[in-house]
Amino acid sequence: MKGIILAGGLGTRLNPLTKITNKHLLPIYDKPMIYYPIQTLVNAGIKDIMVVTGGNYAGDFLRLLGNGREFGLSHIHYAYQEGEGGIAEALSLAAWFAEGEKICVVLGDNIIEKNIIKAVKDFEMQKNGAKILLKEVPDPERFGVAEITNGKLRSIEEKPKAPKSNLAVIGIYLYDDRVFDFIKGIKPSDRGELEITDVNNAYLKDGTMTWETLNGWWTDAGTFESLLRASILVSQTGANNIS
Ligand code: G1P
Repeated sequence: MKGIILAGGLGTRLNPLTKITNKHLLPIYDKPMIYYPIQTLVNAGIKDIMVVTGGNYAGDFLRLLGNGREFGLSHIHYAYQEGEGGIAEALSLAAWFAEGEKICVVLGDNIIEKNIIKAVKDFEMQKNGAKILLKEVPDPERFGVAEITNGKLRSIEEKPKAPKSNLAVIGIYLYDDRVFDFIKGIKPSDRGELEITDVNNAYLKDGTMTWETLNGWWTDAGTFESLLRASILVSQTGANNIS
């Protein structure tokens, strides 16, 4: 399985912090944000990794990460996203890299306390389709929200005003190689972006979407509140714990 980290975007919710750097280079406690999603993949045994970034500070990722030696990697692939087309558009830039393999996509601002080893192993055994990871949150309206009844995934809604559950779809997604065809079939949302939730709903319709809940805490870090929360959580328990 290959790993893809999406670390583009303008990070406008974090202005003025993101005026002079990329959001994913900002500190979370004692490390730059981008370190955490890389560790998430490495801990799951995924060592063939592409970082998709963009904007004015893309070169800084290369200066910071180099070939990934700090993570025990021998190389990191990079892709550059021009403009602001959304998560699914950024992902489409990695189509050539995936080369027909299954992929694990991690949003660059998603940080986890533990690991995704079980979900990745389970997905390796899954014949085809996709898998999402869910976490109970107090503020589901900020995220993609999954509706589950009788253990069955019924719907996924992006930032619903009236969420049908408190289960957020976290920014770690497992896909087979058909994901790039599904992306071609979706249209920009009201915010002008190709939404990852539309891709996930395409798999749901296809009948091949599975789900698991995540153990340990999860947070994004794209707002001032969640950026602070991420640093506090990491300082208290550490992140990316293996056991
Ligand atoms: C994105 C996704 C959303 C997901 C979230 C996880 O939201 O669109 O479905 O729950 O990441 O961090 P964004 O941070 O782009 O608003």
